[in-house]
Amino acid sequence: MSRLDSMLRRFAAQRDGLNWAAEQTADLAGDALDLGLGNGRTYDHMREVMPNRRIWVIDRVLQCHPSCTPPEADFLMGEAEPMLQKLVDNTARIIMVHYDFGFGIKEKDVAEAARLSPLIASIMLPGGMVVSGQPLVGMQQIKGPDSIAPDRYLFYRT
Ligand SMILES: C[S@@+](CC[C@H](N)C(=O)[O-])C[C@H]1O[C@@H](n2cnc3c(N)ncnc32)[C@H](O)[C@@H]1O
Repeated sequence: MSRLDSMLRRFAAQRDGLNWAAEQTADLAGDALDLGLGNGRTYDHMREVMPNRRIWVIDRVLQCHPSCTPPEADFLMGEAEPMLQKLVDNTARIIMVHYDFGFGIKEKDVAEAARLSPLIASIMLPGGMVVSGQPLVGMQQIKGPDSIAPDRYLFYRT
C-alpha cells in the first residue's frame, strides 16, 4: 500500500472513530481530551462533533493551524506525563480521550503509549472511551465501528 493510501486510511479511521466515540458517549457528562494537538486537525473535528464539551489538549509545542488554537485555559503545553499529572491533580473528569502522540517510530510509540496508559486511565470516568492510534494497556479493548479495520485504530472502555 502506498504511503498516500495508508495516510488516507488513517485519517478516515480517525474521523470515523471520533464520530463513533462521540455518539457512544453523547449522553454522559464529562470533558474530552486530545493527546497530541499537532496541526489541530483532530482537535478541530472533536470540537465540531462535541460542541458542548470542554476539550483539554496536551502537546509539548503549539504549532497548529491558527484556526485550531485551543483556548489558553484548555491547552496544557508540556511533556505528556507532567501535563497528565496536572489533570489528575485538578481531578479532571474525562469521558472521551483521543490518543495521537507519536514519533513515527513504532517501538518507541508503543512503549510510550504503554507507559502513559495508567495515567490516562486514572483521569477517566467509568463508561468513558479512549480512541487511540497506539495500543494502550490496562483498559478494556472494544470493537470499534465496522468501517474501521481491526487494529487500524483502537478503542477502549473504562
Ligand atoms: C501525530 S501528531 C498529532 C496530530 C494531531 N492529532 C492532528 O490531527 O493534527 C503528534 C503530536 O504529539 C506531540 N507529542 C508526541 N509525544 C509527546 C509527548 N510525550 N508529550 C507531549 N507531546 C507529545 C507532538 O509534538 C505532535 O505535535
